[in-house]
Amino acid sequence: MTDKVIEAINSGTLTADNLTHETLREKYKRQPYEYGPEALSRGRGIFDDTDQLDQYLYSYGKMGNEQWEKQFEFSMIDGDTTIIDYGCGQGLSFLNLVCRWSHDDDKTWQDYLKSVILIEPSQIALNRAQAIAQLKFPDATIRTIHKKLEELDNDDLSFDANKVTIHIFSQILDIPLTDNFNLVEFFETITSTIGTHYIHVVSHEVDEMNDQQNILKLYKYIVNKHVHVDDPTDEICLVLKTDPKEPRKVRKIATHMALNTFKTQRNNKSYTAMFACITTY
Ligand SMILES: C[S@@+](CC[C@H](N)C(=O)[O-])C[C@H]1O[C@@H](n2cnc3c(N)ncnc32)[C@H](O)[C@@H]1O
Repeated sequence: MTDKVIEAINSGTLTADNLTHETLREKYKRQPYEYGPEALSRGRGIFDDTDQLDQYLYSYGKMGNEQWEKQFEFSMIDGDTTIIDYGCGQGLSFLNLVCRWSHDDDKTWQDYLKSVILIEPSQIALNRAQAIAQLKFPDATIRTIHKKLEELDNDDLSFDANKVTIHIFSQILDIPLTDNFNLVEFFETITSTIGTHYIHVVSHEVDEMNDQQNILKLYKYIVNKHVHVDDPTDEICLVLKTDPKEPRKVRKIATHMALNTFKTQRNNKSYTAMFACITTY
């Protein structure tokens, strides 16, 4: 099955100007399955057919976009920027980010965005996300990593020291990850590069706000560990699957933190979003 979105990009029907989170859903949502949510494992499956990508836009695209509606008020730092989208799916979260967040000055993403890293275990979703990112940012380097979060190693996670790195976790930390995945160590690793790190996590329908939920776990950890810097010689080891490299000595401070739970009028569903700005030096 060919990918209609990639075809439209190649034929020039979809352009950097007319492609947004809304037009992607409106133009390419389809309902090829009689029971959509089941064909998509209730939106949490790892898809192997482009029909599922289109069905996802139909069944869950509106909800996916709604989660990005309540933005946090903050000013973005200007400078060379990398966006990393963990469990990026077909690119809807990436589009929400670049279409909704803007810089305070008269510059645009084109001026600042130097690279995009897309991480996703579904190859067909990754292909679509890559085509979308490349269309929107032809001058940026687009790197794809075809893996689950739990499979990433130090080489995957050694990012360029850009001024600004934006880490997106959109509807991914609420997916059950394997037991050996340590979210806190993962967070420490991805923010160990010198520079400014924005972490944006969005999650849907958190029925009970308890400590078992990754979004809350991460929020509390950052508040406890990084809002006040107690130990100036904190050593952050790279602790993922490969052997730890030379421990990097860095200091981190969380300069902005926000946690927001909100409902949408449409279906009264509740969403939770977390934002953190970490400066590593
Ligand atoms: C609900 S979708 C969200 C997609 C995208 N982030 C968005 O907000 O539009 C969840 C995505 O996570 C991917 N996924 C599932 N298990 C994963 C894992 N263990 N690690 C990384 N991604 C995973 C799925 O393939 C799917 O693309």
